[in-house]
Amino acid sequence: MKDVFVLGAATTKYGKSLLSARELALEASKKAIIESNIKPNDIQAGFVANAFSLAEKQGHLGPIIMSGLGIPDVPASTIESACSSGASAIREAWVNIGAGIYDCMLVTGVEKVSQLDTITATTYFSFGSDYIFEGACGASFPGLYGSIARAHMTKYGTTEEQLANVAVKNHENAMFNPNAHFHKKITVDDVMNSIVVASPLKLFDACPFSDGAASAVLCSEEFLRRMNGHASEAIKIVASGRAGGTGALHQRPDLTTLNSAVLAAREAFKRANLGPKDIDFLEVHDCFTIAELVALEDLGFYPRGQAAKATEEGQTKPGGQTPVNPSGGLKAKGHPVGATGVGQVVEVYEQLNGRAGQRQIKDARIALTHNVGATGGSCAVHIFEKR
Ligand SMILES: CC(C)(COP(=O)(O)OP(=O)(O)OC[C@H]1O[C@@H](n2cnc3c(N)ncnc32)[C@H](O)[C@@H]1OP(=O)(O)O)[C@@H](O)C(=O)NCCC(=O)NCCS
Repeated sequence: MKDVFVLGAATTKYGKSLLSARELALEASKKAIIESNIKPNDIQAGFVANAFSLAEKQGHLGPIIMSGLGIPDVPASTIESACSSGASAIREAWVNIGAGIYDCMLVTGVEKVSQLDTITATTYFSFGSDYIFEGACGASFPGLYGSIARAHMTKYGTTEEQLANVAVKNHENAMFNPNAHFHKKITVDDVMNSIVVASPLKLFDACPFSDGAASAVLCSEEFLRRMNGHASEAIKIVASGRAGGTGALHQRPDLTTLNSAVLAAREAFKRANLGPKDIDFLEVHDCFTIAELVALEDLGFYPRGQAAKATEEGQTKPGGQTPVNPSGGLKAKGHPVGATGVGQVVEVYEQLNGRAGQRQIKDARIALTHNVGATGGSCAVHIFEKR
């Protein structure tokens, strides 16, 4: 396996956009190419991370993006892995470059859903669950994560106020992210008084429906060398881990953990020969506040049932011992499904290069990303290091 690097990465602003998926994807791709100091012709292949482009009556985005970049002969196919499509596409590019098939690849994640009304968007998203047993029975993602939250509260005594702390922190972090969906500071009371979406989860416990795109150029060490010093901001993908889990929650013995995250983290830490103590900050999949707490426990940063207290104590804030989601996370930066896992890489790229402005994590050198598909049917974990 050869070493693989992120040469450059960039994102559009997340939120409600008037642009189409193809326009968003092209904007992010062009920015990433410029950021990488390469020409489109340097790209040998690509992956598009996307889950719902059919909502715009447009599948098969790969050729459209490559044609828009002026390289129609370059192959690009879609990776769909629900909300973990982005990290799954990064993983597949890592495999391809690591195996020596390609030297330079473009990974672009994109989603455009704000044209859908809430019921339609919720229904489309529920196609990522085990639809026969969950979505079709009315158990959409807020309901499924509500069940996970309820199980965690019952088993570990986690409170609704402790869940609210996650939202308060991530909204605060997003204040310093110009590309975030929300720039709105909130309090625990705001969360507690917001409308119930799926008890115990309320409006401010949920990520929004976001549009947006994020893009990363991945390359081999040989490619970096050929760039003759024009790749000073490249970061190394130290390790990748990926695993699956049951599609449906009722097939699991314990709702307070996502086994795919446990297994993906185990693979990534083993490949990197590192552990949680080596990580300077994390971007985790906080699609609902409970998901951030479960992530921190699944990834081994806190013992079971302890992440809520740690969050309450401020340990996961930017200045704390385990900074989590300095970007604002899915909760406040936003969750354009296909883009999310690639967007986490953009945050890592900016942080490890000391370019995160007011949200910069001091002396950040090693970072971890965690991107979950649905309620854990899939998960990919990556570890990055500044060269
Ligand atoms: C929570 C949810 C139902 C709210 O949707 P909605 O009721 O249609 O909300 P609207 O779009 O009508 O927005 C109403 C207001 O709430 C705000 N808002 C919407 N979602 C929000 C969220 N998740 N957090 C904070 N504010 C939110 C809007 O900005 C808007 O504010 P404004 O009136 O000041 O402009 C929706 O965001 C949701 O389902 N989120 C989860 C998405 C999901 O499941 N993703 C997959 C995860 S696995």
